[in-house]
Amino acid sequence: MADTTYISQLTSGKDPVEALQALAAEFPGEIVFSSSFGWEDQVITHMIFAHNIPIKVFTLETGRLFPETYYVWNRTMEIYGKPIHAYYPEHTALEAMVNAKGPNSFYESVENRKQCCGIRKIEPLHRAVAGNKMWITGIRADQSANREDMRDVEWDGGNNLFKFHPIFSWTLDDVKAYIKQYNIPYNTLHDRGFPSIGCAPCTRAVQPGEDFRAGRWWWEDQSKKECGLHVHEPAAELNDLKE
Ligand code: ADX
Ligand code: SF4
Repeated sequence: MADTTYISQLTSGKDPVEALQALAAEFPGEIVFSSSFGWEDQVITHMIFAHNIPIKVFTLETGRLFPETYYVWNRTMEIYGKPIHAYYPEHTALEAMVNAKGPNSFYESVENRKQCCGIRKIEPLHRAVAGNKMWITGIRADQSANREDMRDVEWDGGNNLFKFHPIFSWTLDDVKAYIKQYNIPYNTLHDRGFPSIGCAPCTRAVQPGEDFRAGRWWWEDQSKKECGLHVHEPAAELNDLKE
């Protein structure tokens, strides 16, 4: 029987590599890491691959990623010689949406945008994490006000597993320093004003001083700008016992 308190005990006082090793030992064959190939994710990919930690690495291939993202994906496979599992959208639902609404329907309404994220990201995510007990992500607290309220260990009731964010407390400077120290391949869009990188049609560069996530779904209200991959649950639910 594990709960978030138990997971926190397993990880607290450890550096991210040690924490990942402890979780991989606790959940053998039932622990996965999701990478969007942003630099936070590249740090964690390096930790997993360089230390041979038995955690499956996967990506949600929406079909709308930047060329730079495909480049860093390929380069990462070349450098580490390890698999990165791609999950694609279910083709029947994707074809029905594009045939009915065109390829860029997400600009027309929040509803259309959520439909596209649902087909291209959320349904593939459910398949990617199904049957696992632990999902690792590259979320950091200072990426957004919403994320500051989160904790490094969470229970995801929608997907029925725990989540752990190994570099939750790192600053962006910590991330950059680690990338430099270990010469880790990273998405060159980060050098061109893209702190947060998602699908190409839905991500733009930000100006100096603008919010970290201002370039994501920039045409929408601030309050609506999460795609639904990460549903932040109220703190009261965090310590419920979960098997
Ligand atoms: S999002 O919810 O706005 O899309 P964000 O881009 O901040 O998320 O990334 C946060 C974490 O979500 C990443 O560190 C990664 O673990 C996961 N993630 C986001 N997009 C993808 C993707 N396309 N494939 C796999 N994981 C992803
Ligand atoms: Fe579709 Fe944009 Fe969501 Fe990507 S970010 S799945 S293109 S709406």
